[in-house]
Amino acid sequence: MKHIIDPLDLSVDEITELLDVADDIENNPKKYAEICRGKKLATLFYEPSTRTRLSFEAAMLNLGGSILGFSSADSSSASKGESVADTIRVISGYADICAMRHPKEGAPKVASEYATIPVINAGDGGHQHPTQTLTDLLTIRSLKGRLDDLTIGLCGDLKFGRTVHSLIKSLSRYKGIRFVLIAPEELRIPDYIREEVLRANNIPFVEVEKMEEVMPELDILYMTRVQRERFFNEEDYVRLKDSYILDMQKLRAAKPDMFILHPLPRVNEISTEIDNDPRAAYFRQAQYGVYVRMALILKLLELEVKADD
Ligand code: NCD
Repeated sequence: MKHIIDPLDLSVDEITELLDVADDIENNPKKYAEICRGKKLATLFYEPSTRTRLSFEAAMLNLGGSILGFSSADSSSASKGESVADTIRVISGYADICAMRHPKEGAPKVASEYATIPVINAGDGGHQHPTQTLTDLLTIRSLKGRLDDLTIGLCGDLKFGRTVHSLIKSLSRYKGIRFVLIAPEELRIPDYIREEVLRANNIPFVEVEKMEEVMPELDILYMTRVQRERFFNEEDYVRLKDSYILDMQKLRAAKPDMFILHPLPRVNEISTEIDNDPRAAYFRQAQYGVYVRMALILKLLELEVKADD
């Protein structure tokens, strides 16, 4: 049985297949409408979420399946002290597959060791978020037509932003990828990403503090919010929260075919005046999240459907 805990749990070929199925789902949704009839997805969310949980649920419903779950630790027995290991043993008897979000790094991995159903990591602390990465890859491939030979700018909270960590890990396997990492000194990428992912694989990257100077080079600009819930004190958050605000003035220096992605939720880091610019892709990105999660559920339940050529 396969679990998706880390973005590298899927090979490049498996990702290509998933993105092809996701494209097919977008174009032929009816073909997929009944495939999961009788199957249940449990969403076990110990941390807030809008898109990830609802896109998983929409994905299962679009496939004809059913959903159950909880959306905060307070409303689950975690508040009574139940361990993730015990919860997942029980849920394994109630559902066919589950998506888990947890504030503790590694919690979905622990769950996968006790589960008898596939476990999908829907975000573990400041660590990884592999299905957001699938969403990001589908978005980039759909907009740019490729996943190689791209200069990718990642901007904001690169320290705590789990979507950034997973995206760097995953994109590092494609050729011709160069990263421009834009962050204040205190929010730079963790050492393990710099050393074990970027340097170990000889991936070209630069680390800068100013967004303006690198804007003309970028093919993709991936904006992120400063992750308030991961800070030890509020003062640091307040000082850093508005480090970057992308507005029309700054966007003028960008290529006409650069796309702006953001995993959402947005706080202040993208001015709403940009929302109607053709380069703003973040709401389309959220829609792609449903297609790719549908493809992933099918794969993990071994209900694979081949995309039409
Ligand atoms: C992200 C997350 O939860 O890590 N949101 C999401 O899943 N789309 C990004 C964030 O919360 O900033």
